Amino acid sequence: MAPGGDAFGGIAPGRNRPYLLRTRVFASEPASTGAKVRAPMNPVFVAIDTVDRGRARALAAAVRPHVGGLKLGLEFFCANGPEAVRDVAGDAPLFLDLKLHDIPNTVAGAVRAVLPLRPAFLTVHAAGGPAMLRAAAEAAAGEIKLLGVTVLTSLDDGDLDRVGQRGPVADQVRRLALLAREAGLSGVVCSPHEIRTLRAECGPDFLLVVPGIRPAGAGVGDQKRVMTPAEALAAGADHLVIGRPITGDPDPAAAARRILA
Ligand code: C5P
Repeated sequence: MAPGGDAFGGIAPGRNRPYLLRTRVFASEPASTGAKVRAPMNPVFVAIDTVDRGRARALAAAVRPHVGGLKLGLEFFCANGPEAVRDVAGDAPLFLDLKLHDIPNTVAGAVRAVLPLRPAFLTVHAAGGPAMLRAAAEAAAGEIKLLGVTVLTSLDDGDLDRVGQRGPVADQVRRLALLAREAGLSGVVCSPHEIRTLRAECGPDFLLVVPGIRPAGAGVGDQKRVMTPAEALAAGADHLVIGRPITGDPDPAAAARRILA
């Protein structure tokens, strides 16, 4: 176990730093291909989607020993502000999911403004364009790993058409992921079904952080395109974002442990 690591070996030394990645071969892969799949030691970030600071603290405390990190989003940030984010995250690796999208100067200012929170990951919309992405990457100054949001999973081909973006969705996702990589971002957030294409297109070092994860047999909720944690990792995901299957369980710690197992 690494210094500062937990029982699951997921936490790197140094506060809120993404932990080290290791390479492993999944048993289900044909041995002859020798293909390797990159997977973090504890790939799970729990999405704490609530405006209730007390509930967020309780959830964070319950799951913290069993997961790689915590994701707090716009909902929590708008309701409670940066100090509450610091309070809830504690020393856990923090994924700050703010999905920033504005002119380059403003986004760069926002990135600098959250630097003191020392998030491991911060999201920006890749559709903000190359100048905005470069400005964000420059402002992050290697201190935060920036992830590009490509096409929101709530949008379909018809929605892209209505906002004047060229579809189909899969092509737009690929276009924006390549733009994010070119601008110096560390990776993207993508749906489980885009993992294989983006891994092939963007290379082994580009981070793929994947929501829409459901353990076998779990309720799908409003997610339409889901995969199990094992399937997503085998496809090439680096990190998994899991919310309700953990936070909606009467015993969130047990749910997190079951998923890891
Ligand atoms: O509860 P559930 O596991 O569906 O939570 C998924 C989390 O991932 C939520 O915080 C949601 O906002 C986020 N997310 C998503 N789809 C995206 C990007 C982020 O579900 N495309």
